[in-house]
Amino acid sequence: MADLAPQLRRSAHADFQADGVLAAARTLRRNPRQVAAEVVAGLPDDGLVASAVVAGPGFVNLDLTDRALLAQLIRRLGDDRLGVGTPETGVTTVIDYSQPNIAKEMHVGHLRSTIIGDALVRILEHLGGTVVRRNHIGDWGTQFGMLIQYQVEHPEPAPDDTGTMGRLATLYRLARAEFDTDSAFADRARRRVVALQAGDAGTVAAWRNIVAESTRYFTDVYDRLGVRLTDADTVGESAYNAALPAIADELERRGVAVTSDGALCVFFDDLRGPDGEPSPLIVRKRDGGFGYAATDLAALRQRVAELHADRLLYVVDARQARHFRMVFDTARRAGWLPATVPAVHVAFGTVLGPDGRPFKTRAGDTVRLVDLLTEAVDRAREVVAAKNPGLTGAALDERAWQVGIGAVKYADLATNRTRDYLYDPQRMLALAGNTGVYLQYAHARVRSILARADGGHTTVDVTATLEPAERALILDLDAFADTLAEVVAGHEPHRLCGYLYRLAQTFTTFYEHSPVLRATGPQRANRLALCHLTGDTLRTGLHLLGIPTPDHL
Ligand code: ARG
Repeated sequence: MADLAPQLRRSAHADFQADGVLAAARTLRRNPRQVAAEVVAGLPDDGLVASAVVAGPGFVNLDLTDRALLAQLIRRLGDDRLGVGTPETGVTTVIDYSQPNIAKEMHVGHLRSTIIGDALVRILEHLGGTVVRRNHIGDWGTQFGMLIQYQVEHPEPAPDDTGTMGRLATLYRLARAEFDTDSAFADRARRRVVALQAGDAGTVAAWRNIVAESTRYFTDVYDRLGVRLTDADTVGESAYNAALPAIADELERRGVAVTSDGALCVFFDDLRGPDGEPSPLIVRKRDGGFGYAATDLAALRQRVAELHADRLLYVVDARQARHFRMVFDTARRAGWLPATVPAVHVAFGTVLGPDGRPFKTRAGDTVRLVDLLTEAVDRAREVVAAKNPGLTGAALDERAWQVGIGAVKYADLATNRTRDYLYDPQRMLALAGNTGVYLQYAHARVRSILARADGGHTTVDVTATLEPAERALILDLDAFADTLAEVVAGHEPHRLCGYLYRLAQTFTTFYEHSPVLRATGPQRANRLALCHLTGDTLRTGLHLLGIPTPDHL
């Protein structure tokens, strides 16, 4: 149906509207309404179309027969992929996401990158694609000089009150304070950076310990989130150190980068600072050091040349748009990024607090991701317990986790990613409205209907007459595959959220108008088949977003 012709759209006036005639008539230099009338007259009489009418400037409004819709329902029921093909087969996507920084807490920005990235990974893999995950953690930089030097000078462990990252965060704070106030310490810290870069064994060992301590912590957070990122996916900034001098040399040799004020820079005609001065991408700093840009160029080159990426995705805060623009441009000019390989900055907006400003604690600090998750799960426990007074202990904890994490993820994924959104734990856990809980609840309700009906849904009767609510549900179910294609085309998980929300609403309308359990004969069988397919579509869709689907709520 929807997949037969790309210019066929769902419509409020008919099952579908075809607008392809408009373009065809323009090419033919003919009156579009006349062409549309000819198309309608030429439609085969194959029992698929119940009515075809010319509308507006030359649209064709199409209504399908009940039999055609029921036949499609049968096809979907017999297909455990729910009509979704594998268009990504043979396509390798390298996706850069999550990217927390060593010795720093994960915050709400990392939540967005992690969750959007995880959803895109799941969807691309489901469509048959090969996905290489890259957790580009911040594990290199001058801050390690100060951290290691402070540890050397204060061998007793820093106070540890809040778990692993607590110790490192404290170490970071103390080291930074000393660095800022004691210039002799700052000098020793800078010498420590040189020792680290030169590969001094003791310094490198200390660095490795700090990195390992942090990554253990990150893994713990990923487990809590139900995100499938492992150590094998973690290739931090430090992994590209050895490649950086060659990156600089090659850019210079090819004339892409030039020395300006002692630094190696790439200039862009259309990128200027507020003062009108050109603002370059700095590949190598005046002191000979490499930074964020060089690392990203080395990573990009490796992803194309060695990982054979057909598509590069970077799920990173929208504020880094200029950085990625410059990196991609530079890579194209250098010949590292062929025109056939798209590189996309999958940008996302800021999470705002209740005051409409970037989400902070009452004390004005960034909100720790773990605290935010704990709070969401605690609130979810209250919601779940209120609905199921009998649920206690581990079962209650599990359900609270499913609902709490689902709520956080859904709230993040449901808004267009480029927009900012308001973090509101109360609203995201509401049972009504466009929330994860509502969808989990819709799924559980379908399951309970099916459990009460006790099977018997497999024999769809194609000769039945459909009610409007049944037709609407079949048409919505049919749009699942097209929706996933749209998500991939724009890297927009919110389109899947919107689809699932509409599906749940269409199901509710259907269930109100077309009793399932009280129906009899073929009608009951057809309606149970619709329940079955709705349940499977909701479950698959939510899993593709990384959201659990308990059978009871
Ligand atoms: N670690 C960086 C941050 O926390 C994000 C890194 C994004 N990825 C990249 N390839 N530059 O801001």
